Amino acid sequence: MTTDTHAIPEDTGLKTRVLVATNGSAGSGKSTFSGAIAYAAAKHKKKVCVIGLDKQRDVSRLLGYDDPDADPNLPTLYDVIDKLFTLAEAVVPARNSKTKQVIPNLWVVLESKKLDTLEFKLAGETARELWLHRILGELRGRFDLIIIDCPGDVKLATVGALIAGDEVVGCTKSQEKEARGLTELEDKIADLAAAYGHIGMPTGVDWVVITEGVKHGSQGKVYKDMEYQLREAYEDIVLETVRADVRVPEAYTAAQPVTLYSPSTVAAEAYAKIGRQMKLYR
Ligand SMILES: Nc1ncnc2c1ncn2[C@@H]1O[C@H](COP(=O)(O)OP(=O)(O)O)[C@@H](O)[C@H]1O
Ligand SMILES: [Mg+2]
Repeated sequence: MTTDTHAIPEDTGLKTRVLVATNGSAGSGKSTFSGAIAYAAAKHKKKVCVIGLDKQRDVSRLLGYDDPDADPNLPTLYDVIDKLFTLAEAVVPARNSKTKQVIPNLWVVLESKKLDTLEFKLAGETARELWLHRILGELRGRFDLIIIDCPGDVKLATVGALIAGDEVVGCTKSQEKEARGLTELEDKIADLAAAYGHIGMPTGVDWVVITEGVKHGSQGKVYKDMEYQLREAYEDIVLETVRADVRVPEAYTAAQPVTLYSPSTVAAEAYAKIGRQMKLYR
């Protein structure tokens, strides 16, 4: 295969949906969601691009790039912010970490550990909150789906994604800390929508994905109660709950999306259903 086969798709006028996977708290299942849904949609022949915003680089790793900074020839999102590459030039094909083969229909904009300096980097820029909004148009029309995997805070990286994206996916564990992160996120979106609503940014959380906390002894009831409270609060935007499933950390170790690593396990089936609930594929 030539590298051309893996070139970024042309703009064919696709109606691109841009999902922002986010929560003000870390460890809420954002990267697991991003990798799992991206792979599931690609498997359904949708053209998908994941943009990672986190210096921890989890989704880059799940999509086949263990340490993007180690290879000087690999463009990362940081290079885009540094204006060394355009966003479209920084799109690379996702790879299966086990077979090293390119994954059809799936692309990624890689993360760098330098992303933690984004705030400083953009400090002097006018309207820096628009940093992603200004360039995301380069990718619209080329993909059916773009998933932006945010870090576990609502600072400038996430703010940029919230303004640039179309639909906010609030990822949370059925635990107090992550559920509070969701509230923080809603406040932030309301704030931003007051300032930037006119450019068509999301005005609230569009979807909620609950991942069940991993049970230790008798903690099960606390998680059930929290899941119930979240369903009461968010009602019909709450998607299928992703149950605690040992295949997820296993897939993390194998550096693969869980929908690739073990498609028929409980968590993978939940993500497959979530994709259908969101009408990302049939
Ligand atoms: N369904 C699940 N069952 C068990 N562990 C999970 C599940 N989903 C996620 N995890 C674990 O939770 C941790 C945080 O998940 P991750 O997706 O990286 O969160 P975030 O990107 O929000 O920080 C990871 O160690 C992951 O393996
Ligand atoms: Mg993450």
